[in-house]
Amino acid sequence: MEKGKLLYEGKAKQLFQTNESEVIWVEYLNQATALNGAKKDQIKGKGELNNRITSLIFDYLKSKKIKNHFIKRLSANEQLIQAVEIIPLEVVVRNVAAGSFSKRLAIPEGTSLSLPIVEFYYKKDELDDPMVIDDHILFLQIASTEEIAQLRQLALEVNHALIELFDSIDIQLIDFKLEFGRQKEGSLLLADEVSPDTCRLWDKKTNEHLDKDIYRRDLGDIVPVYQEVLNRLEKRGK
Ligand code: TMP
Repeated sequence: MEKGKLLYEGKAKQLFQTNESEVIWVEYLNQATALNGAKKDQIKGKGELNNRITSLIFDYLKSKKIKNHFIKRLSANEQLIQAVEIIPLEVVVRNVAAGSFSKRLAIPEGTSLSLPIVEFYYKKDELDDPMVIDDHILFLQIASTEEIAQLRQLALEVNHALIELFDSIDIQLIDFKLEFGRQKEGSLLLADEVSPDTCRLWDKKTNEHLDKDIYRRDLGDIVPVYQEVLNRLEKRGK
């Protein structure tokens, strides 16, 4: 497989063409951002940790029959993925109140939700990724009614599988964000990444944050924390 020209540069990853039109070469960067890019830092080791963690989690999801774009990890900070047309929605699943949910509805962080809650956010930096409801998604022609139903269903399936995974390594899955793409024939495929950048993970015994809130809230260094998540995932695999 040959790495071709740069196709897209995001906040945490670069996507490159390859000699196969359906395959994309991803490089995970050391950049960390928060507040829609207003806070930005280079953190040595972050790209490698997220690449390794995402690779393990996407492989695990495959083993649970949840299809996703991951093909294989190439190196410490590179992986191959299947090309899809990304749907500009962030699909957030919440099991426990935290972050923007706690702020918006004045529900204390840590409050268990009786059922998982699925929310959609429109991926549009200029608008600060606003929350959208089904009718907005239809009006903006982002996805069809059937696709919205499928996104909810798939997000809940991922939630079920991830709760089990993290529970087995003494981590409580508070909430997370997913992105999906359309394949050539139109079916939806889980894409992007699943890492401590995109999930809230709390240690089951101590309630310590094992995720990007450490960076967002200036609570310390994320590298040892992400390393701890990777160590637990790798140990589980042995
Ligand atoms: P929130 O509480 O800030 O809405 O975040 C909910 C979850 O989604 C949390 O696990 C962090 C993740 N997330 C992202 O991965 N990217 C984003 O741009 C946002 C806003 C949240």
